[in-house]
Amino acid sequence: MTDIDRAVAVLRSGGLVAFPTETVYGLGADASNDAAVGRVFEVKGRPSDHPLIVHLSDASHLDGWAANVSSNAKLLADAFWPGPLTLLLERSSSVSSAVTGGRSTVGLRVPDHPVALELLRSFGGGVAAPSANRFGRVSPTAAAHVIADLGDDVDVVLDGGPCRVGVESTIVDLTTDRPVVLRAGGVSIDRLEEVLGYSIDIFVSAEPSTGGARAPGMLEAHYAPNARVVLCAEHEIAEVLIEVLGSVTGPVGLLAGSALVGLPEDIVELEPAGTADDYAAVLYSRLRQADRLGLRVLVCVPPPEVGVGVAVNDRLRRAAAS
Ligand code: TXA
Ligand code: MG
Repeated sequence: MTDIDRAVAVLRSGGLVAFPTETVYGLGADASNDAAVGRVFEVKGRPSDHPLIVHLSDASHLDGWAANVSSNAKLLADAFWPGPLTLLLERSSSVSSAVTGGRSTVGLRVPDHPVALELLRSFGGGVAAPSANRFGRVSPTAAAHVIADLGDDVDVVLDGGPCRVGVESTIVDLTTDRPVVLRAGGVSIDRLEEVLGYSIDIFVSAEPSTGGARAPGMLEAHYAPNARVVLCAEHEIAEVLIEVLGSVTGPVGLLAGSALVGLPEDIVELEPAGTADDYAAVLYSRLRQADRLGLRVLVCVPPPEVGVGVAVNDRLRRAAAS
């Protein structure tokens, strides 16, 4: 029996399978099995009104899960699936409200990872999966992160190595006249606009601490390590480090895109995160590393706010605000 066969058997019997995607690891259950979906909420410790994304093997399943699939939805699915884009659509009547948190919409995505796609093809149905971390923790981008967070509560962990993109999918709400981005992610706004042929809005929650009504999972604490995160531009770094060192007892770390010179000696410098794309790929493992090192404060120099750098800046701002 291959690992995939075993994972499919677990899904069919209502169990939980953690699997790699190109963004982050997912905690998967059979989306048509309410008891299995219920276990996802239980294991994650997630409120039941926070909907789950349903993962599909290809876009041909779209009409089975969503109603009134617009031409915009088809256009985006064609352009970006498999890939880090979640489409929010009106749900078809057969989709369980356990998955959608009681909402009339459903989030759908075809992930771009060979292990995820093999699992989805062999299983045949939709796999409901949030990120495979406990509620309020940083998303896992390696199998070891999943095991550290969920341990024996997950029946199978498929190891597909580190996630290529490293931040979650971009979520686009297609249930209104004009598409709205609810979460910046692996597909940049520029690329979405290129395909749609017009500019689109980014939804900014009126109340960041609750994530607003449209994407209830956008809590700040989702992206926060235990260390306090302080953001600063590269030219302010010396000033900020001196101020932080003077006001905190315990180790202080630094995460930046490139190596910096002339830092105070007692700063714990994490390995530079690189360009915006590289920064996204290592961000969550660096935040976990900060906690393993017991850092009290992590000073971060964010990457430029272009491409996937927009999502990195969004996560860092949420981490710093919590
Ligand atoms: O990259 C990703 O999207 C990863 C991988 C595993 O696919 N999944 C992920 O799932 O990040 P999760 O559950 O951690 O985040 C999904 C977000 C949550 O904020 C949830 O509230 C929102 O999507 N969401 C899902 N379905 C929704 C719906 N029908 N209406 C509003 N928000 C929805
Ligand atoms: Mg999550």
